Amino acid sequence: MLLPFLIAGNFFALSMKKKENKKLWGGRFHHSTEKLVEDFTESVSYDKRLFRQDIKGSMAHARMLGKHGIIPKQDAHRIIQGLEQILRKIEEGRFQWKRELEDLHMNIEKALTDSIGPAGGRLHTARSRNDQVATDFRLFVRDETMEVDACIESLQRAFIRQAEKHMDIVMPGFTHLQKAQPVLYPHHMLAYFEMFKRDRQRLRDSLKRVNISPLGSAALAGTSYPIDRRMTADELGFRETSQNSIDAVSDRDFALEFLFCLSVIMVHLSRLSEELVLWASSEFSFVDLPDAYCTGSSIMPQKKNPDVPELVRGKTGRVFGSLFALFTTLKGLPLAYNRDLQEDKEQLFDALDTVKASLSVMSGLVENMCPRPNRMMEDTETGFLTATDLADYLVKKGLPFRQAHEVVGRAVAKCIQRGVELHALNIDELKRLHPLIGDDVIQILSVKGSVGSRKCEGATGYEPVRKALIKAKGWLKEFGVLP
Ligand code: ARG
Repeated sequence: MLLPFLIAGNFFALSMKKKENKKLWGGRFHHSTEKLVEDFTESVSYDKRLFRQDIKGSMAHARMLGKHGIIPKQDAHRIIQGLEQILRKIEEGRFQWKRELEDLHMNIEKALTDSIGPAGGRLHTARSRNDQVATDFRLFVRDETMEVDACIESLQRAFIRQAEKHMDIVMPGFTHLQKAQPVLYPHHMLAYFEMFKRDRQRLRDSLKRVNISPLGSAALAGTSYPIDRRMTADELGFRETSQNSIDAVSDRDFALEFLFCLSVIMVHLSRLSEELVLWASSEFSFVDLPDAYCTGSSIMPQKKNPDVPELVRGKTGRVFGSLFALFTTLKGLPLAYNRDLQEDKEQLFDALDTVKASLSVMSGLVENMCPRPNRMMEDTETGFLTATDLADYLVKKGLPFRQAHEVVGRAVAKCIQRGVELHALNIDELKRLHPLIGDDVIQILSVKGSVGSRKCEGATGYEPVRKALIKAKGWLKEFGVLP
C-alpha cells in the first residue's frame, strides 16, 4: 500500500536536488526571477508574523491528511515533528527567513523539506497557499481580537476607578463645547465606559464571521482528495467551515470588519484625547495629567505638554487609512484569489499595533490622571448652567414648557446685561421674574440641587450614577473573557 508513496518520494527527492536553487513553484520556469521582482513581490518580511498560525494550520492539515490515508501516517507524523522544531527555531530567533522564498508559507515548507526530507513535500497535498493564507489570517485576526478586547477591558477598568474615586465631583457638562448643565464627573467617566463597551461587543460579534475555516478550498475549486474539513476546523477551533471555495479564498471581509472595529476604537480614543488635551490646558485646568505621561518643551521651560493624547488623536488617521486602503484593494477584484490580496496584511498589522499601543498608553493615562474638583465646581458657577432647572421648576408649577423657556430666556438676557448669574439675584428679584416663582426656587438654582434632581435611569443624579457604576462592574464580570 505504501510502496507507491516510497518510490514516488525518492524520485521527488532526486528532482528536488536538481532544482535546489529554484522556487518551490519553479517547475514551468526557464529563467530565474529578477531581483527587483523578488523584492517587489516578497511578503516574508512582514507575513512571517503569521508563523504561529501558519504552523498550527499546517499541523492540523497534516494530521488530517495522515488520518485519512491521503499521505502516509508516518509522513504526517514526521511533518508535524518537523513543524514543531521549526516553530521552536522561529520562537528562539534561530530561523533564517529568506526573501527569495517569497512568503512565510514557502519559507516554512522549504525548511521542513530540508529538515525531514521528501516527506515534507507531501504537506501541500490538497492545499494551496490561497486557502492556507486565508486560514492563517483568520486565525490571526481571531487571536488579536481577543488581545484587543483585553486592552479595552483595562481601559474600561481605569474609567471605573476614576468614577469610583471621585463619586461626588460636579463639573460642567458641555454641548457645542459650551457649558450646558452640571453633571457628575463619574457620569462623564462612565460615558467612556459605555463607548468602549460597544467596541467590545462589536469585536465579539465580528468573531462569528471570523471564526470560519476556509481550509480545504485549495486554490479556488476545492480538491479531489477525500479531505475532512470538519476535522481541521475543529482542531483549529473554527466554529464553521466555509460554504463556497471561490468565496473562501477571496474573502477578506473579516479583515475589513476588524479594521472597522479598530477604526471605531480609534474614534473613541481620539475623542477622549481631544477632551483630555482641552481639560489639561490652563484655560480649562480640569485635570492634571501624570508627569510620566507628558513631555516638556525644548524651549519653553514652563510647558507640560499632553503629547500622549495628541499622538493618539494623530494616529487615528493611519488606522482609518488602513481601513480605506483595504476597501480600495478589494473593490476592483474579480473572483477568486488575486495577488492584490497580499496587501491586506501590512495595513492590518499597522492598524492593530497602533490600536493596541494607543489603548495601553491611554489606560495608564486615565488611571493616573487627577481631576481638579475645585476648578470644575468653580466653572459650574458661571454660564447659567441651572437655567433649564428654573424652566423645569415653572413647568412643574403648571406653566407650559415653551412659556417657561421664554421666561427664563428673558431672565438670562437681563442677567447678561447686568453681568450677573441667575443665582446671584436675590429672592425678590427672582420672584419678580414670574408670579409662579416662590421661596423654594433657591435650591433649584444650586448646582448640586440640579445634579441631584436628575434621578431617572441613565441620568447624572447621584443615585443613578451609583447604580450605573454597579451595573458597569457587573457587566465587566458577565462579559468576562472571550469564549
Ligand atoms: N503571500 C501570498 C498572500 O499573502 C500568499 C498566497 C499566494 N498565492 C498565490 N497564488 N500566489 O496573499
